[in-house]
Amino acid sequence: GLALAMGPARAEFPSGPVTLLVPFAAGGPTDVVARLVAKVMERELGKPVLVENATGAGGTLASGRLARSTPDGQTVLLHHMGITTSATLYRKLAYDPKTAFDFVGQVTTVPMLLVSRPDFPPADFKALLAYLKDNKDKVTLANAGPGAVSHVCGMYFMQLTGIKLTTVPYKGTGPAMTDTMGGQVDLLCDQTTGATGPVKNHKVKAYATATRERIAVLPDVPTAAEQGLNGFEVGVWHGMYVPAGTPKPTIDKLSAALKAALHDPEVKQRFADLGTAPVTDEEATPENLKAKYFSELDRWAPIIKAAGEFAD
Ligand code: MLT
Repeated sequence: GLALAMGPARAEFPSGPVTLLVPFAAGGPTDVVARLVAKVMERELGKPVLVENATGAGGTLASGRLARSTPDGQTVLLHHMGITTSATLYRKLAYDPKTAFDFVGQVTTVPMLLVSRPDFPPADFKALLAYLKDNKDKVTLANAGPGAVSHVCGMYFMQLTGIKLTTVPYKGTGPAMTDTMGGQVDLLCDQTTGATGPVKNHKVKAYATATRERIAVLPDVPTAAEQGLNGFEVGVWHGMYVPAGTPKPTIDKLSAALKAALHDPEVKQRFADLGTAPVTDEEATPENLKAKYFSELDRWAPIIKAAGEFAD
């Protein structure tokens, strides 16, 4: 009969709540982006989008979780460019970065800046560099583990200045920022999504942006280059991923919901306030994220190999 001719009924996506994996701690920059986007996506998809902070191993734990999940669109990952650096940084991963993922779309671009505990002695960036040279053995630099962008940014800062500091890993820069504000740790390189509020409220000191131009929401913070350190630029971007083998109609539905989120006036306003830019419609496509992902894999591999510090 007709039912047989049509084959077995297939549940239409989304068949239930969608889990959005976030590789870092609640309250941090990735979490903030994910929760803003999730609210609109759940309106678009008509099913709850539940954010789960699957923290650990610099984000690679969440990537592994995604790689092992059923490719039905019900499990999605929001990750930043660390998904491409960790591919080289980690000696062993529980997934193959070249084949594990399908792509939903790019989500943001985010600038970074270097901040310190509020009572850190150096008055400005030049004084900071001098201070670090004299006190490198006792100064601590927080990050969210190898594979985190705070780790890349801090590593790059140490490379450029030739100053090696003691690094302190956290489960995300949310808790790292809390400890920086509280004075438990000295320095942190974080995304504006996490740092804008604390800088504006004088809960931390801002020394320099890791950008070519100053950051619009923090116009008083000079770039590193303005203060004599050239090349200190770290551009962060977020993308949305599903497991390889996810049906195209499902990916298209997720991608349309993501686009709707990036057009939402409230999301756009929050992003703008946090110095985080939503990407264009062209950038929010599966094709663009796929191209970006693979070009970033290739770009970072030699840089990380040259640095010669790997993670287990
Ligand atoms: C976070 O959300 O905690 C950050 O994105 C971690 C990082 O990569 O620095």
